[in-house]
This record gives sequence, structure tokens and C-alpha cells, in this order.
Amino acid sequence: MSEERLILRCPDDWHVHLRDDDMLAAVVKYTAHQFRRAIVMPNLKPPVTTVQQGLDYRQRILSALPAGSAFEPLITAYLTDASKADEIARGFEAGVFAACKLYPANATTNSDQGVTSIALIHDVLETMQRIDMPLLIHGEVTSSEVDVFDREAVFIDTVLMPLLANFPELRVVLEHITTQDAVDFVAAQSGNVAATITPHHLEINRNAMFEGGMRPHMYCLPTAKREGHRLALRAAATSGNPKFFLGTDSAPHTLQAKESDCGCAGIFNAPYALEAYAKVFDEEQAMHRLEGFASEFGPAFYRLPLNEATIVLERRPVQVPATLRLGNAELRPFHAGATLPWRLMDDAPTTR
Ligand code: DOR
Ligand code: ZN
Repeated sequence: MSEERLILRCPDDWHVHLRDDDMLAAVVKYTAHQFRRAIVMPNLKPPVTTVQQGLDYRQRILSALPAGSAFEPLITAYLTDASKADEIARGFEAGVFAACKLYPANATTNSDQGVTSIALIHDVLETMQRIDMPLLIHGEVTSSEVDVFDREAVFIDTVLMPLLANFPELRVVLEHITTQDAVDFVAAQSGNVAATITPHHLEINRNAMFEGGMRPHMYCLPTAKREGHRLALRAAATSGNPKFFLGTDSAPHTLQAKESDCGCAGIFNAPYALEAYAKVFDEEQAMHRLEGFASEFGPAFYRLPLNEATIVLERRPVQVPATLRLGNAELRPFHAGATLPWRLMDDAPTTR
């Protein structure tokens, strides 16, 4: 392996928003180009809650893929106060649902039908623990008295710790972690608790939202935190600890929806996600650890086979466009207008 060229087992994205309709049609090609599989978030309108909705959504994603794509969407079920354990189990056992997603009600985009109290989904969690179905958690409390920058840490103490005490065997992914607190907590748990880390939380701290003015394209949830937290995330991602793996949380919203009176939360990083991670791993002198993080630890956690195909990253500058078209609307990708040092090559060979 030269320092200028890296051949990697094909990576997967363990947390992505592909949306629906025109947005799905516009964005799925980016994720399908970069990744072999992805855990697809269910926060549609209406959310994906039933087995039939999961099957239908999977079919819509497959229909929106570019011809010949081998991309495999892994569908998740959105938990509500009314979720039924037997429907969730039926979906998991039929291979329709790969996991369940827990949104605390009103924590983020399209989470108004999320869970208002963990006690209300006790039976669902008990069943998930029994059938070994992963629970994916948006880990933020929503109380207006809790500072927005403290919501993840407070969630860990007040919701996650009691939940894991009640369900010690439940397999849990704390999604898109943003704090040293989350890194330390996940690292200290047994092997059934893991976390995903996004490219943007490895690259930006909370100053990015206020640099010279309000920067809506740097706003996502959980928000970026202080610099010390960013450094803790970089250390965790590049540590080789299999509890930390790749999940982009790519969350497209139109430019118009971001740049508005009440701008949507979400950073659209799918088009250059691997380039963004490669930049971070290179800066941390950890390119040799990128394959574990991007391609091995996720499948191990989800008990899925490793991908056999490979991709090639080369140290060749690539310029990220300022905007991408979505019909009459536009999308602004993460790193818009910037040049990234590594690029994903199109002519990926399939053997090492
Ligand atoms: O920034 C975010 N955007 N965080 C989330 O949790 C949801 C996502 C979205 O769906 O837009
Ligand atoms: Zn998300």
C-alpha cells in the first residue's frame, strides 16, 4: 500500500437519510456510489412504522437507484409510543427491518411521532433484546430547560444508563455522537453498545455555526460541540476500537429549507463522505485504521458479512461543488467549494 493510494474493502454507511420522492431520486446515487450498504433512517412523513411501509420504502429506494447499482438499503423501523412488539419482531424476522430507531419525541427533524417515555416501549425493548435486534438511538433530551449543547450528556445520564440497566443484553448504537461524554460512556460499556461518528462532527466545532455570521449549513442535530469534544471524537474514530464506526448522518434539506426563518437541521455530506473521512484519518496519521472504521466494525456489530469488493482512494485533490441541483431547488453539500486532498476513484478494482 503506497501512501498515495489506498485500497479498502468496500465501506458501508451505518446511518443515512435518503428521504423520499424527488429528494430520494436526487440523493440516493451519492450514497450508492460511495457505499455498498446503508442503514436508512425512517423519519419520513409518515414515518416507517409497519412491516408493509418498510417493504414499500425499500422498493422505492431500489427503484431510485442508478442502473446496475449493487447498493443494498437496510431499512429501520421508527418507534412511537404505539409501537407493537409483534410487528417489530415480524419485520426483523422477515429481514425487512435491520434495526429500530428511537427518536425522543421532538428531538429533531420529523420526530414529532417519536417516543415520549421509554416506559411506553418497555415491551418492544424486551422483545428486541430477546430477538437480538439492534436499537439505534438519537441520544438527546428535549426539555427546554436543558441547554442544547448539554442534551447528549444529559440523555446518557438520565435515559441511556437506566435503559441499559433494564436491558443489559440489548444491542444499542448511540448514533452520531458529539461529545467526550459519549465517547467515554460507549468505550466503558460491554460489546453490545457501539456508536457512529459523522464526518462533520470530526471536522467542525460549534464555532462553525457562527463564523462571521449565522451559518445554517453547519447546523445539524446533535449540534457540533466545543473543540475538546471534536478532538475526543477524532481520537475515538481513529483509535481502532471497534465500538466506533462510520455513520454519515447525511441529512439533505433544500437550500431554501436550510436558509429560512426556522432552518432545518442536517448536513448533506453524502457526495464526498469518504473523502471527508479520509482527510481526517490522514490528518491523524491513521489511514491504516480507516478500513476498520469504514468497512469492518459496522458489519461485525450488525452481524453481517464483510463486503468483498474494494474501492480505491487516491491522494488527488477533488473540488466539492458549491451547490447540487434538485429539480428547481438546490442542495449545499458539506465542504461546499472546498478542495479535499483524497478522492474516491471511479475505476475501483475488485481484488487486492
Ligand atoms: O441534523 C439532523 N438531521 N439530525 C437528525 O437527527 C435528523 C436529520 C434529518 O432528518 O434532517
Ligand atoms: Zn440522522
